[in-house]
Amino acid sequence: MASNMITITNNADGSSHEYPLKTGTLGPGAVDISALYRDAGIFTYDPGFMATASCHSAITYIDGEQGVLLYRGYPIEQLATRASFLEVAYLLLYGELPQERQLLHFERDIIEHMMINENLKNFLNGFHYDAHPMAILCGVVGSLSAFYHEAMDVNDPDYRDISARQLIAKVPTIAAAAYKHSVGEPIMYPRDELRYCANFLHMMFATPRADFKPDLIAEKALNLLFILHADHEQNASTSTVRLAGSSGANPFACVAAGIASLWGPAHGGANEAVLDMLLEIGDVANVPKFIAKAKDKDDPFRLMGFGHRVYKNYDPRAKIIREVCHQVLEEVSGAGDDPLFELAMKLEEIALNDEYFVERKLYPNVDFYSGIIYSALGVPRNMFTVMFAVARTVGWVTHWTEMMSDPANRIGRPRQVYNGPERRDYLPISKR
Ligand code: CMC
Repeated sequence: MASNMITITNNADGSSHEYPLKTGTLGPGAVDISALYRDAGIFTYDPGFMATASCHSAITYIDGEQGVLLYRGYPIEQLATRASFLEVAYLLLYGELPQERQLLHFERDIIEHMMINENLKNFLNGFHYDAHPMAILCGVVGSLSAFYHEAMDVNDPDYRDISARQLIAKVPTIAAAAYKHSVGEPIMYPRDELRYCANFLHMMFATPRADFKPDLIAEKALNLLFILHADHEQNASTSTVRLAGSSGANPFACVAAGIASLWGPAHGGANEAVLDMLLEIGDVANVPKFIAKAKDKDDPFRLMGFGHRVYKNYDPRAKIIREVCHQVLEEVSGAGDDPLFELAMKLEEIALNDEYFVERKLYPNVDFYSGIIYSALGVPRNMFTVMFAVARTVGWVTHWTEMMSDPANRIGRPRQVYNGPERRDYLPISKR
């Protein structure tokens, strides 16, 4: 066997075939078994993609054992404390940190694209006042393709760039409009003189009644959270965007599919679920009861905000948020002693020392803390996952762009092991 080849042997018939081992710049390699079915007539079986790489990607690297997260090679800790969200968006999208002029142009372009077509308001108004804002976001983002379809050509790199920027610019506007709809307030338009995160705060919290000055601490907190949520390689929603896009679907539809996938409580919906859980626990005295429920295999309850498919060490994003959480709470709302935060700390402490969680390497993830910060910023619970979607739009469009410019891209089409009935004949209804 050549050193960069892996041999797969079928013990049933003694046949063996060699497959190349693909290596990247960091992390484990992957056996390219794309010819396995042709060679051996069998598929591979890997539900949940536990050990399957679906693509090459140069965007984000995670070492789950060591708790490392790099965006285009830069450690998340450095970006989170020193960069702006749009600087990180530029880095993810184009591969390099921008020069000053490039960043200025990029920022201006994004802010200029933040307005949405006025007719989109009709879609918003069609939703019931108590519709979940994720449902509104998913529907309205999907409808963008009906508004911005001029020169829609997913094979044209210029179009891809424009649509990526449009999505980064318009998703926050739609997100804030969804919130305004739910509270029955008029939609606030973006303002040219405000930065991205300040603009978002303005669209969420300003009203036509009075001048609004976005709070600097809140802007800083939002900037940090958005950076931490900007990308996370092949997670469920990003893989959904890639799979939808692999058929040549337009990027607005693909991102709407990503939003739908993000909404689940095992993924982006966890930040809302964490707050629900903390409120349900209510008091430190009840923590042991809920830990016991989480460990009980007959109980579907899971400790929300704990565990991660890839991190088997502390989620580096959670580490960063944990450090700033107290500070943000104190500065934003004077709520440094917020009982929910105290409860979260206690829950974390107990879980981290419990054999069940230790054995399974279940650490708090990014969403364990993000909801507490969003709460302190005055963001209602049902908007937490929407906030995640605003930030992750950068990752989604970056992955979509990378995939569309990859010559190896082909339609995503998994196989299956069929276990339904064998062939049988139709019987008329009177004979069944
Ligand atoms: N509470 C209790 N037990 C858990 C938890 C939890 N939160 N997470 C995993 N386990 C147990 C699980 O029951 C299993 O035990 P056993 O080996 O005895 O059967 C073991 O740990 C491995 O779990 P798994 O379900 O095989 O792990 P997974 O990689 O399929 O799932 C996860 C990862 C994130 C979906 C899961 O840990 C979970 O549901 N966590 C709670 C939801 C959550 O916080 N999600 C946000 C993830 S971070 C943000 C994002 O990326 O979107």
